[in-house]
Amino acid sequence: MTLYTRSPARAAAVLRNGGTVAFPTETVYGLGADALHARAVAGIFRAKGRPADNPLIVHLCDRDQLGLVARRVPRSAERLLDRFAPGPVSVIVPRSRAVPDRVTAGLDTVAVRFPGHAVARRFLEACGCPVAAPSANRSGRPSPTTWQAVRDDLDGRADAVLTVGRIAHGIESTVVDCTGPRPVLLRAGSLSLEALREVVPGLRVADRSAGSTARSPGTKYRHYAPRAPVRLVTHPGEITPADADRAAYLGLTPPPRNLRFRFCRTFRSAEAYARDLFRLFRESDAAGVRAIFCQTVPPEGIGLALADRLVRAAAGRPRTASGSGRSRD
Ligand code: TXA
Ligand code: MG
Repeated sequence: MTLYTRSPARAAAVLRNGGTVAFPTETVYGLGADALHARAVAGIFRAKGRPADNPLIVHLCDRDQLGLVARRVPRSAERLLDRFAPGPVSVIVPRSRAVPDRVTAGLDTVAVRFPGHAVARRFLEACGCPVAAPSANRSGRPSPTTWQAVRDDLDGRADAVLTVGRIAHGIESTVVDCTGPRPVLLRAGSLSLEALREVVPGLRVADRSAGSTARSPGTKYRHYAPRAPVRLVTHPGEITPADADRAAYLGLTPPPRNLRFRFCRTFRSAEAYARDLFRLFRESDAAGVRAIFCQTVPPEGIGLALADRLVRAAAGRPRTASGSGRSRD
């Protein structure tokens, strides 16, 4: 049975008892467990059906907790945290021995993040321990941006769900590896590359095609996918009326009038598109659409992360044909 509660203190009590608890952050909902207890963390992998080789982000509310999980804090990590924590960035640092292998998938490093969301902070304070948490979806599904989306995926699988708190960004945190001589962006996210480079100008972007998947294991799995195939378009004018029938459209440009989609949303900004993307993937599925056409966006600001999620959601599917892809994470 899953406990649904509005009380951060009640949710934290479940976590302190070794349970798994879904909680809101400013990016997406996370599914947390006590990061220093391997058995509690195992519950996250069970609930999500997550592959064991995909490490988790450890959530903290207080800079003093860093010493519990990090063996050392590189200068670039310190600078990023000074400027952006609490906020939507995760930094990868050398891990301390107190962190179980379960959390880091056996890596010698650990990702840490200080959520800025007020409810998340109250919850983490009440937990009083570092909280390991991936996004609170079943593996491979879009990250949840409402507690109802968490319920759809994890009812009966998570021990508790904290049901208050609005998501601000809708796309996960930006992940930066700070363990090497130069910091590396492993996952584009809610904090833009441009903002990060103001603080660490030498930040390099990992080249996915060149084996960087080994550095961020999660990136090798197909992600964020709704059930309906996602098809990318540069402009809605590329879509035929026959294809639009029983399909959804999401994008910045309004589609031509002759296209009668079952479900159509246009956004005023890339930020608004990003915030609603995962929720609308789920709504499109609920509406039973045959395909979801998504307009691509320029890779600037939040657009870099949004473009990344769109490409991954569409992964394994050619641009103009539908087909079913298998998903693993
Ligand atoms: O916004 C977020 O980041 C959300 C909220 C809940 O904090 N969390 C989230 O977690 O998106 P998850 O597990 O869905 O994604 C974490 C990503 C994965 O791609 C994982 O492989 C990578 O971070 N990661 C975690 N620890 C790592 C490490 N030590 N080295 C390299 N990559 C790591
Ligand atoms: Mg995830």
